[in-house]
Amino acid sequence: MDWCSSVQTRKNIHNYHFKILNLGSPGFLLLYSLFLTLIFSFYMLHFPFSPILTFTIKEHSAPHTNPLHINQPQLDYNMSECDLFNGTWVLEENDDSLYYTNFSCPTIPNSKNCLLNGRPDEEFMHWRWKPDHCTLPRFNAKIFLTIVKGKTMAFIGDSLARNHMESLLCLLSSEESPTVIYKDAEDKFRTWLFPRHNFTLMVLRAEFLVFATERVINGSFTGGFDLHLDKLNGNWTQHLPNIDYAIFSDGHWFLRPNYLYENGNLIGCVYCGEPGVQDLGPGYAIRRAFQAAFKYINECEACSGVIVLLRTFSAGQFEHGAWNEGGNCNRTRLFAREEVKIGDQDWKFRSIQIEEIKRARKYGQNIGNMFELVDVTRAMLMRPDGHPGEYWGNKWMKGFSDCIHWCLPGPIDAWNELLLEILRRKFPTFH
Ligand SMILES: *[C@@H]1O[C@H](CO)[C@@H](O)[C@H](O)[C@H]1NC(C)=O
Ligand SMILES: *[C@@H]1O[C@H](CO)[C@@H](O)[C@H](O)[C@H]1NC(C)=O
Ligand SMILES: *[C@@H]1O[C@H](CO)[C@@H](O)[C@H](O)[C@H]1NC(C)=O
Ligand SMILES: *[C@@H]1O[C@H](CO)[C@@H](O)[C@H](O)[C@H]1NC(C)=O
Ligand SMILES: *[C@@H]1O[C@H](CO)[C@@H](O)[C@H](O)[C@H]1NC(C)=O
Ligand SMILES: *[C@@H]1O[C@H](CO)[C@@H](O)[C@H](O)[C@H]1NC(C)=O
Ligand SMILES: *[C@@H]1O[C@H](CO)[C@@H](O)[C@H](O)[C@H]1NC(C)=O
Repeated sequence: MDWCSSVQTRKNIHNYHFKILNLGSPGFLLLYSLFLTLIFSFYMLHFPFSPILTFTIKEHSAPHTNPLHINQPQLDYNMSECDLFNGTWVLEENDDSLYYTNFSCPTIPNSKNCLLNGRPDEEFMHWRWKPDHCTLPRFNAKIFLTIVKGKTMAFIGDSLARNHMESLLCLLSSEESPTVIYKDAEDKFRTWLFPRHNFTLMVLRAEFLVFATERVINGSFTGGFDLHLDKLNGNWTQHLPNIDYAIFSDGHWFLRPNYLYENGNLIGCVYCGEPGVQDLGPGYAIRRAFQAAFKYINECEACSGVIVLLRTFSAGQFEHGAWNEGGNCNRTRLFAREEVKIGDQDWKFRSIQIEEIKRARKYGQNIGNMFELVDVTRAMLMRPDGHPGEYWGNKWMKGFSDCIHWCLPGPIDAWNELLLEILRRKFPTFH
């Protein structure tokens, strides 16, 4: 475990050596490292992030009442102008306001089924996102399926992209149950078909968007990757010509000790701590990866007319330590807007992503491609209460918390309310 997190910073690397030196006999060391490898591989399988960055949030607890009430008089607004991404969360007291439950949605994975895993509090499911100057319409599965009828939508990214898609499946379940038409052995790629609407929904795992291979040293996986910043991951590009809506995300895997290549030559690294190799930082790699992906889309003739959405970075929210140091996310109340600390690394990743979507839009609009944002970073920073935490049902990793993914139902459902509203606004012909 120490090894896995040590990759984050030099300070941690030193901690690791310190701990190892104190552990004693070589036999113990061997067993210990086997144990670490075993645990680590479970971690990789079930929780494929490096949620090492401890999200530092103010220590005092959130106020017990939200300053905004749902029945506050509506401001006069122009819906098509209203900024969807600046707002607050508002409590809906009505139990019927839930879109789905763990009974009505059959596809909630165990790891996101927080109530099934014993989470005792339920209020976290009842807050809805409220933009400052308008009301975000409730998700409407009928309207969504009408808009996407006959189309293909793909979520391209890491396991948070999958979490987003799992929320959408539940939100659509009231209207139509899809069938799985493709699933690979590792379940990193899945395709669902909604036959009545001829709507195809895909999830394509691509942790870096660019071509990447895991680094192996002396026969063991290191958890770090070699990223080729000028070469894309064919696992998603091969599907692009068939995709009408591509929803990109990614970020967390860039926080590992990765090595960066261009033209096959090493140009630097991220958190490698190696003398002679320049640490260019995760932001550099994130920017280059999104740039490469969007450039590819704008140069791909077979893909013209694709609608690209970028869902901005959703930060990990460990408190009281890193994920492997007893860090958890046991808050049951959310943060008010003023309590959220912006301006650190998470916010920087969001800014980079926004700059890259704007750049892509500039070139893409001439050829009929559309680039839009689903900017969830700030909204989600207010929701430390929305993660599975210790209720993620992983029996191999008891005592560890998942403060990266989101419970279902939960605040991640707002990503799809936003998605629908964006589709509705940008493509009013579908009304
Ligand atoms: C709302 O904003 C849109 C976009 O700026 C504009 O075209 C439309 O006329 C506005 N509608 C009203 C009622 O102000
Ligand atoms: C909110 O508004 C501010 C300025 O008015 C802007 O800088 C920011 O990017 C907006 N969006 C979010 C999600 O905070
Ligand atoms: C749903 O959650 C309840 C707790 O609220 C739990 O008892 C039940 O087993 C869960 N059911 C399913 C199907 O997940
Ligand atoms: C379903 O949609 C695809 C395009 O995604 C189209 O080629 C096909 O003809 C449609 N099938 C039916 C039965 O409408
Ligand atoms: C593409 O997917 C396969 C199957 O999961 C995986 O082995 C391979 O590493 C992926 N390629 C990249 C570049 O990530
Ligand atoms: C790989 O193994 C060799 C021989 O056991 C050792 O000398 C070397 O330091 C190891 N390299 C790393 C990076 O651990
Ligand atoms: C949350 O976790 C911290 C640290 O583990 C602990 O001190 C605190 O009592 C916990 N809070 C609740 C409400 O369980």
